[in-house]
Amino acid sequence: MPGDKSISHRSIMLGALAVGETRVSGLLEGEDVLATAAAMRAMGAQVERIGDGEWLIHGVGVGALLQPEAPLDMGNSGTSTRLLMGLVASHAIETRFFGDASLSKRPMGRVIEPLSQMGAAFEASEGANGSKTLPLTVRGANPAVPIEYRLPVASAQVKSAVLLAGLNTPGITTVIEPVPTRDHSERMLRGFGAELDVEEAGGERVIRIRGEAELRPQTIAVPGDPSSAAFFLVAALVVPGSELTIENVGLNPTRAGIVEVLRQMGGDITEINRREVGGEPVADLLVRHSALKGIAVDPAIAPSMIDEFPALFVAASLAEGTTVTTGLEELRVKESDRISAMAAALTGAGSKVTETEDGLTIVGTGGEPLRGSANSRTKTHLDHRIAMSMAVTGLASRDGVEVDDTRPIATSFPQFEALLEEVTR
Ligand code: S3P
Repeated sequence: MPGDKSISHRSIMLGALAVGETRVSGLLEGEDVLATAAAMRAMGAQVERIGDGEWLIHGVGVGALLQPEAPLDMGNSGTSTRLLMGLVASHAIETRFFGDASLSKRPMGRVIEPLSQMGAAFEASEGANGSKTLPLTVRGANPAVPIEYRLPVASAQVKSAVLLAGLNTPGITTVIEPVPTRDHSERMLRGFGAELDVEEAGGERVIRIRGEAELRPQTIAVPGDPSSAAFFLVAALVVPGSELTIENVGLNPTRAGIVEVLRQMGGDITEINRREVGGEPVADLLVRHSALKGIAVDPAIAPSMIDEFPALFVAASLAEGTTVTTGLEELRVKESDRISAMAAALTGAGSKVTETEDGLTIVGTGGEPLRGSANSRTKTHLDHRIAMSMAVTGLASRDGVEVDDTRPIATSFPQFEALLEEVTR
């Protein structure tokens, strides 16, 4: 598996804020991460590719980012946008962020709110239902004001935006997470030498970071991306006769929900060679075709597999019985509205899907192939994960699936099509 997208973004951002040379291997060279690299260069860091997945970053130091000369192009990447808004918010920088049609619809109020409390000023565009969207201009506050912020939505991007703003803010910035989300920012900030502590209090996670930090450059090995592995996991489980080893899968507990849920459905998944890469648990996964059973997915597990629901919906479509998912409102504000996009795409391929406010209910075929949708193009809505999920659906269908646009796949998984071809040959 190629490098983890979340960790790749953070490697470049933190490398750019450490004084000296950070080396990264296994970096994901997808378009989203390249957008982060370009933005950090525009703010003064040297970010250089020296080989396949091998990158060198010469950081400028916390507080020393420069004003970019041109607006920052975030492409399709919500992570780049929200985390970089956090970084800019506590620097003496005024800059504009813009992105593609998908990103321009996504809500930015969730980061504007806490970053405004820290003193940054924003002029955002107005989206549907009065939401704040790109293009937007940020004027950073220097010095910014430390805050204590309780996350109103379970979002690692919002958490990370506030922590990154806190890096250059005098005093202690506190984020309280009622529901835990991926913790790569916390692990990596600590690894780079920031003073950050995490306390469990009353069932919540309280994260405190001391500002005006001095980050030390690091050598980072990026583990493989479990979100990318999910498509191959599901493909191997639903295509009869499959036996596949997926190498280098990151299994950080805040990310590995998909493996647990697929196992609950009866998926035969064995971890081999468990090890640690870049401070994160990693294993190879041996996956065999399995007779899956529908289940009610516990909504509490959603944050640890928030990007994997499109793939899970495919597995559910081939399982025996009914799979019910709830508590997934956040899926409506991803690269697309993944609840309605997957409902339409899977229905088009012959799956029995009912859309609810906060999830999908799917009656599976019990292992029989789906009809497919070779004659009606599946709409992917500029969403890489819809495109890849429907490619996997195609493997488990009679007539195949046609998708309208495969280009977005390059945002997170440029090797996807070649790898899929390799394992299905
Ligand atoms: C990400 C966090 C998640 C996820 C996204 C990457 C990150 O979003 O969907 O693909 O790297 O922090 P949330 O902000 O909803 O947690």
